Amino acid sequence: MKDYSEQQTLAYVCMNAIGNSLVLENMLSDVITTFVHHTGALGGHYFASAPSRKKIVTVEKDFDIPVTLCTATEEYSIIAVASLGYILDIPIGNEHFLFAFENSDGTDGYGRMFAGFKTKLTNAIDACRSTERLHELNAALENQVVEAKNKNEITEKMMITQSRMAIMGEMIGMIAHQWRQPITVIGMITNNTILTLEFDEINKQHLLDDLNVIDKQIHYLSTTIDDFRNFFRPNKLPQSVSMREMSNDLLTMLGKNYKNFGINLTFTGDVDAAFVTYKNELMQVFLNILTNSKDAFEERLIPEPFIQFHSVHNEENIVFSIRDNAGGISEEIIDKVFDPYFSTKEEKNGTGLGLYMSAIIIEKHLNGSIQVCNDTDGTLFTLTIPTNYTKDITYVF
Ligand SMILES: Nc1ncnc2c1ncn2[C@@H]1O[C@H](COP(=O)(O)OP(=O)(O)OP(=O)(O)O)[C@@H](O)[C@H]1O
Ligand SMILES: [Mg+2]
Repeated sequence: MKDYSEQQTLAYVCMNAIGNSLVLENMLSDVITTFVHHTGALGGHYFASAPSRKKIVTVEKDFDIPVTLCTATEEYSIIAVASLGYILDIPIGNEHFLFAFENSDGTDGYGRMFAGFKTKLTNAIDACRSTERLHELNAALENQVVEAKNKNEITEKMMITQSRMAIMGEMIGMIAHQWRQPITVIGMITNNTILTLEFDEINKQHLLDDLNVIDKQIHYLSTTIDDFRNFFRPNKLPQSVSMREMSNDLLTMLGKNYKNFGINLTFTGDVDAAFVTYKNELMQVFLNILTNSKDAFEERLIPEPFIQFHSVHNEENIVFSIRDNAGGISEEIIDKVFDPYFSTKEEKNGTGLGLYMSAIIIEKHLNGSIQVCNDTDGTLFTLTIPTNYTKDITYVF
């Protein structure tokens, strides 16, 4: 380097090259490129010394790193390397800037100049590394959040399955109940036919009539299964339904059983108004609420039990009020009924997930709301869902 002012100018442009970048490689590459460009050096490295000896940034000519390097206590050193020329080595802690020159002209001045803004460089390197660490921490934190969210979703899915299994158990009881009568009829006809055959009293027309009855009963058995199977098939898309259709399904599934228990199930209001939703998910909620009322009737031996569904429909929402006369829920626990695993049914081994899952389905999956309060002689559930809900459900029950 020729004179002091030239040295000052070089120091100025190199310091300027540090800039504001917080990406280590970019910042170092800018500084080394500027230095190489202004000094006519062959190339430059920024690298970590032993044990890794990893080249962090290389500009222009790639050259081998000398075995002996200057220590951090020396500001800089110049190493003569056969077949290359000279290497200017400026240490920064455990890392080094290395520049290769064809000859030693001016290298001493360059070394002094570069060492002059070491502190600024060290600060810039630290800032880049801190930012990098911050990015890493942020990414780790994001991962943890995603993991926690996934775990939550898995737990939620497990709970949905658990609650669905509980309903399924209930449904299987219903199927068994609905099958009892046709199976008895088929059994009776079969026994009669065997007897008439044994006594050789068979009458062709009677036999034909009996076989027709058996055929009807078998048809009934198979439609019962279809009704239930449709309910357990997941809804992939929202569909247009009316309360009348849903009430027919509920009556097919539960009607006989509820009638046997003397439960009067009624549906009033805008029963024919169509709305778009995930029908089976809504059915699951209705079944949870109905089963709870039935449990309360049985437990409290309520005379003349009833459950009334009333629906009111407008352009935005459809509101279902479901009222029973089972005596209501004590004020001490009414705030807890939507909590997971909250159940007062020790004997029946309630999972306490029915209403929790109903709230998740209504609020998270059907974009609505669910509330409970005590009415004159029982419980009143109020469900509000959008009239036209077309959002995709991203999971399958
Ligand atoms: N209609 C109702 N009348 C009286 N109590 C009710 C009624 N509905 C819910 N409850 C109370 O709310 C609690 C929580 O109901 P939830 O459906 O979440 O669980 P569960 O019925 O106990 O268990 P599971 O649904 O698994 O059978 C019930 O244990 C019961 O004490
Ligand atoms: Mg329940």
